[in-house]
Amino acid sequence: MMVDLVPVDEEVLEDLLALAVAEAQPGEVMPPTSGESATEPRTTWTGPRKGAFREYHRRCRVNLSTPVPEVTWAIKARGRIVGAARLALVDGDPEGREVGLWLGESYRGQGISGEVAYWAIAAAQTMGARRLVARTTPSNPMARRSLERIGFELVDSGDVLVGTMSLP
Ligand SMILES: CC(C)(COP(=O)(O)OP(=O)(O)OC[C@H]1O[C@@H](n2cnc3c(N)ncnc32)[C@H](O)[C@@H]1OP(=O)(O)O)[C@@H](O)C(=O)NCCC(=O)NCCS
Repeated sequence: MMVDLVPVDEEVLEDLLALAVAEAQPGEVMPPTSGESATEPRTTWTGPRKGAFREYHRRCRVNLSTPVPEVTWAIKARGRIVGAARLALVDGDPEGREVGLWLGESYRGQGISGEVAYWAIAAAQTMGARRLVARTTPSNPMARRSLERIGFELVDSGDVLVGTMSLP
């Protein structure tokens, strides 16, 4: 399936939030908000979490006057918003980027992550990255399989599954 990565402007942001609320869990789509621990399972949507989702994507907009450490895009397939991808600085390494991705439940299992990886690798290369990192929980078989298929080398440290890939 052909996919596009589009900027998360205010209109796209509302579509993305609607998808996230209907077809994903907060823990899958955004970092913990202040006061939440990274290990806490975040399974339900609340007003503050919806607000934090909006603020997170607004913070991650490309900004020509101030560099941002993390950028997000919405993923579009067949004319619809189906999920989001992100690239972030990682490990204090200017040549490293962490990549993240989530899809609405009805869009999983159709190979979209492989298409998005192609875009994410190209975007990371234009930023001068030489290394991509992806992190997930070891108990996430779909993410593990998808990272393997994309070509990440995986290391399972018990709490976290870390994938790395060298970029040409
Ligand atoms: C992880 C994720 C991004 C993978 O994207 P995807 O486009 O669905 O990936 P694929 O279509 O390549 O599927 C990956 C594997 O999961 C399996 N799978 C996907 N959806 C499934 C489902 N609903 N039920 C059972 N298996 C499923 C696929 O069969 C495939 O395995 P295979 O290669 O052995 O056939 C997506 O499942 C997702 O958004 N999950 C929630 C967020 C998340 O965990 N993100 C972490 C990313 S590091």
